Amino acid sequence: MIAAVVAGCGALAVGICLVELRASDGSRLPGFAAGDYIDLELGPGLVRSYPLCDIPVAAPDRYRVAVALDPASTAAVPMLDAYVAATEAIPPDRVHLERFRADPAVVTDPGGSNESFEIQLAGTGACFMIGSEENSLDVPLDHDIDVEFSCMAGTCGSCRVKALEGTSEHRDTILTQAERDAGDTILVYCSRAKGSRLVLDL
Ligand code: FES
Repeated sequence: MIAAVVAGCGALAVGICLVELRASDGSRLPGFAAGDYIDLELGPGLVRSYPLCDIPVAAPDRYRVAVALDPASTAAVPMLDAYVAATEAIPPDRVHLERFRADPAVVTDPGGSNESFEIQLAGTGACFMIGSEENSLDVPLDHDIDVEFSCMAGTCGSCRVKALEGTSEHRDTILTQAERDAGDTILVYCSRAKGSRLVLDL
């Protein structure tokens, strides 16, 4: 058995995460052939087989495996958790982690509420109420204002918009603490207002 660490995670395709593994002592790994699988022991009694994704070489310095992100799967969760633990001491802006669903610990803000609030679009000055079950992304889209979006879960960063006035209640897993403290950016799909009003640079 080889002790390994999760050295990186990223999106390979929708619902599939590419996980990079390296030997924990930094040594080279045994070579493999095309189509080979490896067994990963992810925890006590939790062993899963994954196909190796790289071009075979004699003594690779990493293995990469594709992990399907079934929400019910416990395999992907230990790997993401291992990566988060391994990168805890690294400044957040130097760590790349894409979750495929929001981290409930981050998104469920115990102090947050789903109170209605008003947004003003700075471009036209128009104001709209965002109800407790609504989000701030639909308003600009309904008015033919382009705002990028993708995950609709606060995990990709696509719906980043400048907040010109008001205080945001962040419910994403993307913004760093420094960006949250700066208070001038919001991910409009998932995040809300802490007060009664936000002015967005749209
Ligand atoms: S759409 Fe992905 S973070 Fe907003």
